[in-house]
Amino acid sequence: MKSKPDVFRRPESLPDPLPGEPMPTLGAWFAGARSAEVTPNPEAMSLATVDEAGMPSVRIVLCKGMDVEGGSVVFFTNYNSVKGRALEATGRAAVCFHWDALNLQARIEGLVVRTTRDESDVYFQSRRLISRVGAWASWQSEALDSNDTLMERAMEVAMRFGLTLDDLDGAGDVEIPRPEHWGGFRLWARRVELWVGGDGRLHDRARWERALESEIEVGVPPERGAWSATRLNP
Ligand SMILES: Cc1cc2nc3c(=O)[nH]c(=O)nc-3n(C[C@H](O)[C@H](O)[C@H](O)COP(=O)(O)O)c2cc1C
Repeated sequence: MKSKPDVFRRPESLPDPLPGEPMPTLGAWFAGARSAEVTPNPEAMSLATVDEAGMPSVRIVLCKGMDVEGGSVVFFTNYNSVKGRALEATGRAAVCFHWDALNLQARIEGLVVRTTRDESDVYFQSRRLISRVGAWASWQSEALDSNDTLMERAMEVAMRFGLTLDDLDGAGDVEIPRPEHWGGFRLWARRVELWVGGDGRLHDRARWERALESEIEVGVPPERGAWSATRLNP
């Protein structure tokens, strides 16, 4: 067969035939984006939720863990926020990564469940002290009369935990407890789509699907079926 002219070559493309499962490729993309330093927020992903009336809502969160073997991603937030309530009500979410500089997009749709308390504690304590204070001070998604109120609340939190300005400015190796309303969610993938941008909109695109047990318990990986792969028109 004649080789493809350069114009139809991509820097990267999905193998043909497609790999049996998507997560190793996605894991490699995520690791590559984190190390490439070509994008300021390689962990950023759009998180879509729907409320109980089916109204969609989307915002950015940071992907703080990717389990390549089991096929899940983790993010952290306020459980009382708009997204937190929607996730708890429906148990469903979709996320989308876009690494523009790498010409890659990845989508995951599936079922969400809280991370274990231990996972949330460990990640909470790894955050900068000021961010941990912020998690106490911010009643995320609720109305706020002024920014001063938020700053006052943050100062109150700092005082309640006996923090000094040096603590707040420093490396933050002081422990404060995690608020009950703050923690992680794990999204178990039922569908993954990988997209590699191509010239002339001749992108390379494929979707993997698998069955997933619908009732997921915190800390217990759900039963997962085998992946099936489908190449898609871009
Ligand atoms: C780059 C970036 C990263 C963000 N990361 C998070 C995050 O990890 N967790 C979070 O709760 N909000 C994060 N936010 C803020 C959310 O986008 C959103 O404004 C907030 O969570 C409130 O959303 P909600 O009212 O729909 O619940 C981030 C925003 C940006 C722009």
